Amino acid sequence: MLHLKAIKRITGLLLVLPVMFSQAALATTSANNEPEKTKKEVKAPADVQRVKADISKKTSKKSAKKRKRHAPYGAKYFPNYVLTTEEGKKVKFFDDLVKDKVVSINFIFTSCQNICPLETARLTEVYRQLGDRVGKDVFMYSITVDPERDSPEVLKAYKKKFNIGKGWTFLTGKKEEINDIRTKLGLYITDLDETLPDGQIDHNISLVMGNQKTGRWMKRSPYETSEVLTTMLGDWLHNWKNNHSENQLVSNNYKGAQGIQKFSDGAYLYKTRCLTCHTIGGGDGVGPDLQGVTAKRDEKWLKRWIAKPNEMIKEKDPIIMEMMPRYKNINMPNLRLNEGDVNKIIAYIKSIEKENNTAAKK
Ligand code: HEC
Repeated sequence: MLHLKAIKRITGLLLVLPVMFSQAALATTSANNEPEKTKKEVKAPADVQRVKADISKKTSKKSAKKRKRHAPYGAKYFPNYVLTTEEGKKVKFFDDLVKDKVVSINFIFTSCQNICPLETARLTEVYRQLGDRVGKDVFMYSITVDPERDSPEVLKAYKKKFNIGKGWTFLTGKKEEINDIRTKLGLYITDLDETLPDGQIDHNISLVMGNQKTGRWMKRSPYETSEVLTTMLGDWLHNWKNNHSENQLVSNNYKGAQGIQKFSDGAYLYKTRCLTCHTIGGGDGVGPDLQGVTAKRDEKWLKRWIAKPNEMIKEKDPIIMEMMPRYKNINMPNLRLNEGDVNKIIAYIKSIEKENNTAAKK
């Protein structure tokens, strides 16, 4: 049963993109074909110049037509439902949140014990990297899929837990309307039985980023590194016009580029699933520093905790109960790892702990 769900979730992630995204791909192409202004033109002989002028006339006419044909997803496509922010303010989905903006939109619910806290933690990194641009030229929205429980007050408390400030808005509204927004964004898996017996809601965990004006939209995964997500949201969707070298996250020359890194499975799993909340020897993050944890804790306990933290929280495991208040009661999520994955992650943590210990001795 669970397997089937997991498969559905993955296929949902990769395949269930309603028409919107195949169309979005078209819109992207047309946006790419727009004639770019060249900075410096070498003067060409007069006849060549004439031909050039003719061509540019034609292309600009053509691209204007094209642009019209592939009109970006606008008021006709997106619903304009009224949603409520964590501050209790009423806003219209299209007019106030999306129109003319570069946005990232994801769906969460605050009592989520699996992926959502990781997604929020990942987006928190993106939020910090974008700094004061969030709320100015980039807008971030997290919409609840559990509006019955997630009132504005509950959303506000959740936001506070993650130290999220201005510019990133949490929203609630009517369930059917939220589902409609999810469908329009290609994030609704229709045949997924959403309500699980333990009160959890199985939902598509992808996020959508887009520029409403240019009609470029894309689906991303919370397992991507924050630098990639930040670059997409902060630069790519702005047609790279923000060439602010001081906080540019990607290098644009090959000299400075890192070679292709080879990760072991354990390192890969750790970096995509754990790194957003933990360090090994770098101090506390959203969760505790893991340096020394493999020696400190019983192996069986550790394996079970990494695989099924929600069960141990439910059983009120004394070690965890003591630890939780120090981490603002942000529960470690159940990341649906199998036994093999857990073993690989533990082996990776051990190897880094050892490296840190040898470095400390030197
Ligand atoms: C969303 C943030 C988050 C993610 C992602 C996360 N953790 Fe945690 N982790 C926590 C928090 C918070 C705690 C403290 C206990 C609690 O409040 O649930 C914790 C506790 C732990 C502990 C117990 C530490 C101790 O001193 O006993 C271990 C071990 C651990 N996490 C490992 C991992 C591993 C391995 C991964 C990746 C597979 C991971 N965590 C992913 C937030 C996270």
